[in-house]
Amino acid sequence: MSYVSEQPLHDAVNKATTDLFTFGYKHIVKPFFVFSHTPDVAHDQMIEFCRVTRNIPPLMWLLREMLDYTDPVLETDVMGVHFDNPFGLSAGLDKNCDMPVLLDNAGFGFETVGSTTERPCAGNPKPWFHRLPEYDSMIVHVGLANDGSEQVIARAERAWDKAKSMQVSVSIARTNDELCGDIDEGIEDYCTSMRRAAGRSAMIEVNISCPNTHVGEPFGEPDNLDRLFTALDAIEHPQPVLVKMPLNKTWPQFRELLDVLAEHNVQGVSIANLQKDRSGMEIPAAWEGGLSGGPTYRASNAMIRQAYREYGDRFAIAGIGGVFTPKQAYEKIRAGSSLVMFISSLMYRGPQQITVLKRGLAQLLREDGFEHVSDAVGIDA
Ligand SMILES: Cc1cc2nc3c(=O)[nH]c(=O)nc-3n(C[C@H](O)[C@H](O)[C@H](O)COP(=O)(O)O)c2cc1C
Repeated sequence: MSYVSEQPLHDAVNKATTDLFTFGYKHIVKPFFVFSHTPDVAHDQMIEFCRVTRNIPPLMWLLREMLDYTDPVLETDVMGVHFDNPFGLSAGLDKNCDMPVLLDNAGFGFETVGSTTERPCAGNPKPWFHRLPEYDSMIVHVGLANDGSEQVIARAERAWDKAKSMQVSVSIARTNDELCGDIDEGIEDYCTSMRRAAGRSAMIEVNISCPNTHVGEPFGEPDNLDRLFTALDAIEHPQPVLVKMPLNKTWPQFRELLDVLAEHNVQGVSIANLQKDRSGMEIPAAWEGGLSGGPTYRASNAMIRQAYREYGDRFAIAGIGGVFTPKQAYEKIRAGSSLVMFISSLMYRGPQQITVLKRGLAQLLREDGFEHVSDAVGIDA
C-alpha cells in the first residue's frame, strides 16, 4: 500500500487546500496584486509581505497545515545533508534572508539565501526585472544587490537553526561595485564570505556565473577558477560546497570548468544560471539582463545529462531552470539531478508550487516503481 493511500483523509484535505491556493493565486493574487504592478514593485511587496507575515505564528501554522506535504519517497541524503524533499528555492529571490520562515512552513526541502557578497551592494540601476509571460520567463538584471554577507549569513544561520524541517544554503558571489579590482581582489572578496559562512549553513554555493556584473564573469575562465578554489580550499568549512555554473558554454568549455572543480574541495554543481541566448525570442534590446524560466529548461537539462554521464558521482548535481511541472522536475532528476531548484515557477504559479511539485513527483516515482527519489537520479543519462 502506498504512503498516500495510508492517510486518505489527510491527503484529500491537503490536495483540496493546494488546489484552493492554485485557484486563488491564478485568479486573485496574480492579476490584482502581482501583475497589476511593475515587476520591481511586485518583488519589493513580496519581500515586505514575507517580513510581516513571518511574525504572525497562527498564519505560519495555517500555511503549514494547508500546504505541507511529506512523503518518505521524497526524502534524500545528498552530500551528507538530509533533505525532507529534493526541492529548493534557487539563489536570487531571497537575497537578504527574509523568506525562510515562510518557505519552511510551506514545505521546501531547502532554500538558497543570497547571492550575498563581501560588501553590501546596491546592484544595478533599476528596472531589475521585465516579465516575459509568453515564455514563462523573467529578464533579471539585479546585479547582486544585497545587504552584505556579514549580515546575510548571520541571518541565514539563525534561520537554519530555527527551521523546523528546511535546510538553508548560502550563495556567495563577488561584490559588484566600483571598488572591484583585479583577480586577487575578487578572490579575497569570495574568501571573506567563505570565512563568514564556514559552519553556519547546511551548504555553501559559490556563484561564479552572475551575468549582470560590470566586471563580467572572470571566474568562468579555467585558470582563474583554479586560483579561486585553491584559495577557498584553504578555508576550513564543514559543510559541502556547490558551484553555480554558467549556462551559455559549449560542452568542451563546461567540461574544462568541471575538470578544474574536480581537483578541488567541491562536492556539487548547480546547473545552471540565467540564459543569455535570446535567439528566436522577440525581446526589446533595451531590456538588459539574463532570462529565467522557460528559456533555460532544455539547455540546462542537456548540461545536467552530460555532466552526470561524464562525472557520475564525483559531483552531486542540483538541477535548475524552467521547472514548472512535476514531470519537468522528474526529467531533471532522471537526467542526473539529486536536487531540484526553482524561482520562476514560484513567481508565475504561486507558493503552492512546492506542494504541486512534491505531490506530482512522488506519484511519478511510484508509478515507475522507485522507492526513493535517489534511485531515479541519472536513470536517463
Ligand atoms: C529574480 C531572480 C534573481 C536571481 N538572482 C540570482 C543570484 O543572485 N544568484 C544566482 O546564483 N542566481 C540568481 N538567479 C538565477 C536563478 O537562481 C536560477 O538559476 C534561474 O532563475 C533559473 O531558474 P528558474 O527557471 O527556476 O527561475 C536569479 C533568478 C531570478 C529569477
